[in-house]
Amino acid sequence: MKTNIGVFFGGRSTEHEISVISASQAMHAIDRNRYNVTPIYITKEGKWYTGEALFNVSGYRDIPALLKQCEEVYMRPIFGDCNLYKVNKPMFGKAVVGSLDVVIPVLHGSNGEDGTFEGIIEAIGVPYAGCDVLASANGMDKITMKMILAHCGVPVIDFVWFTDKEWFTGKDNLISSIESTLGYPVIVKPANLGSSVGIGRAADRSRLEECIEDASRYSSRIIVEHMVDNLKEINCSVLGDCDEFETSVCEEPIKSGDILSYEDKYMGGTKGAKGMQASQKRIPADLPESMSNEIRRLAGETFRVLGCHGVSRVDVIVDADTDKIYVNEINTIPGSLSFYLWEATGISFTSLMDKLVELALKRNRERSNKTVTYSKNIFSLGGGCKGKLK
Ligand SMILES: Nc1ncnc2c1ncn2[C@@H]1O[C@H](COP(=O)(O)OP(=O)(O)O)[C@@H](O)[C@H]1O
Ligand SMILES: [Mg+2]
Repeated sequence: MKTNIGVFFGGRSTEHEISVISASQAMHAIDRNRYNVTPIYITKEGKWYTGEALFNVSGYRDIPALLKQCEEVYMRPIFGDCNLYKVNKPMFGKAVVGSLDVVIPVLHGSNGEDGTFEGIIEAIGVPYAGCDVLASANGMDKITMKMILAHCGVPVIDFVWFTDKEWFTGKDNLISSIESTLGYPVIVKPANLGSSVGIGRAADRSRLEECIEDASRYSSRIIVEHMVDNLKEINCSVLGDCDEFETSVCEEPIKSGDILSYEDKYMGGTKGAKGMQASQKRIPADLPESMSNEIRRLAGETFRVLGCHGVSRVDVIVDADTDKIYVNEINTIPGSLSFYLWEATGISFTSLMDKLVELALKRNRERSNKTVTYSKNIFSLGGGCKGKLK
């Protein structure tokens, strides 16, 4: 019997399209001799669809036409029910499309990489690949993530954070705090987006205000960081769980402006539009061995202290003037699942997918050994209900 893998992708996120590409790459890499693959596409409105047509990336140019060839489905929030149900129940015939043994979320950004989707799957109890709710949520929020890393001795760039309400009610205080602790230039980011959306750089007060107002259109939590002027950006992937993991070779993504833009990341610079594979990168990054070893160590430490699982990518910023390395962020569901970094490290995309499934099953076995309920029923112990519940 083959294991049934459900790959979830798309979703209510600014990185919806990127997720479609990553998932398509991942589904093609899964070994069909060992696994059946069910694609589950989450639309931008949040509806779930399945069907063979979802394997073909060119179909996503016309979503309404694509969805006509698919079946709308849902799962019930009932522990142990791993079935995919048809939304439009047929009068005759099956209401169930199939049952999932393992879920692989290939969702980037909000409502997917941030723990919300993982929470649904966790409640249903299907083994799933990648970070759990806690690690996903901590990894997604740039403020929480940096607080944890700083606490654990992982170097991060100095930052100031606040909410949009704090900004609108106490602008002057916040501006002086930013100016005295960081100085200019600074980088302003919404705390929980990705793909450089809503990010701006400011070298003076009026631009700072503009950037913050722009960031607050995307998120209620805002982070302002000291800007590293002369920087090298390096990424390193980590695979495993927090007890046992390995790190990949490093890559250097190539940017066309001051910051790595959406276009740099996915379209090969501002001119191209060939999709994610066309993005420019140097693999392995051209670094002294001691520095790449240190980056790999910090990437592993980031993965460990955040309690990560599966495959993540840790992005660091190297200050080229001082050679100091700072962890900038973790992507708990990285673009293309970082397969190209694992290929360069000697692990094929197919083995990477195998490992993700094995890790998901291993975590499920480990979790099923933990006590989640007591067999004693306190109501049967006598004493009625007179005592206070805590
Ligand atoms: N503190 C910083 N100093 C200089 N450049 C930065 C800084 N933080 C981010 N950047 C630039 O902005 C880009 C996007 O920021 P990042 O924190 O990675 O957000 P995202 O989650 O959107 O990828 C980075 O790849 C880098 O080019
Ligand atoms: Mg980034």
